[in-house]
Amino acid sequence: MLIVAENLEQTYLSAGKPLTVLRDVNLSIAPQEFVAIVGPSGSGKTTLLGLLAGLDVPSRGSVRIDGLSLGDLTEDQRARLRAEKVGFVFQTFQLIPTLTALENVLVPIELRGNGAGRTAHGKATEMLERVGLGDRVHHYPAQLSGGEQQRVGLARAFTSEPKILLADEPTGSLDTETGKTVIALLEQLNRDAQTTLVLVTHDGALASRARRVIRLEGGKIVSDSTT
Ligand SMILES: Nc1ncnc2c1ncn2[C@@H]1O[C@H](COP(=O)(O)OP(=O)(O)OP(=O)(O)O)[C@@H](O)[C@H]1O
Ligand SMILES: [Mg+2]
Repeated sequence: MLIVAENLEQTYLSAGKPLTVLRDVNLSIAPQEFVAIVGPSGSGKTTLLGLLAGLDVPSRGSVRIDGLSLGDLTEDQRARLRAEKVGFVFQTFQLIPTLTALENVLVPIELRGNGAGRTAHGKATEMLERVGLGDRVHHYPAQLSGGEQQRVGLARAFTSEPKILLADEPTGSLDTETGKTVIALLEQLNRDAQTTLVLVTHDGALASRARRVIRLEGGKIVSDSTT
């Protein structure tokens, strides 16, 4: 298994009181699966994705990526594992405001230590073209619309062809047509680059393409079905 979560629980302190937003979450994801995580707003989807990526540390339980237990790693080691294997598309985009679209897309490749070359530059430009931003490469995030910023975030995650791609509502700010382009790119990564996809989505068109749908309600998995 590529991703294994065992007995995950996340509890936050909210106004001094503990609030458990994820509990008893167990799941295993095999290489090259295409999984959609669905569920109502506030059900814990973003929280779960952050834990699977090692961006947050769970209150209880464990996550293993490719046999490595995230809880046994230092923050630096987790960052390195992410740089090498995991692409992440944030619900709120998280672009670096002082970098252009192209420079933002180059960040993960540079973190891996092979960013400066012309190949990286060419790949990043090509990916921006494929998400329809060929004429926006030198724009700063503040000069881009919400949907354009989301596509920069997608291009950033796609360019390094990560082994695992975790994406939080990747089509949430896109119109139907642009959403279709992004869905096609996701499927292509899954098929051609063997990228394992774990996507949180409210988009029926996207969820219907996944071969497995995990539904969260109130912080718990209420169904996990393969089509
Ligand atoms: N840092 C935090 N402190 C306290 N509560 C939090 C924190 N982060 C998230 N929560 C709460 O945890 C719950 C789950 O949040 P999460 O962002 O995972 O939901 P979601 O399923 O992604 O929702 P949406 O579909 O609206 O994005 C929410 O009720 C939220 O208010
Ligand atoms: Mg969310």
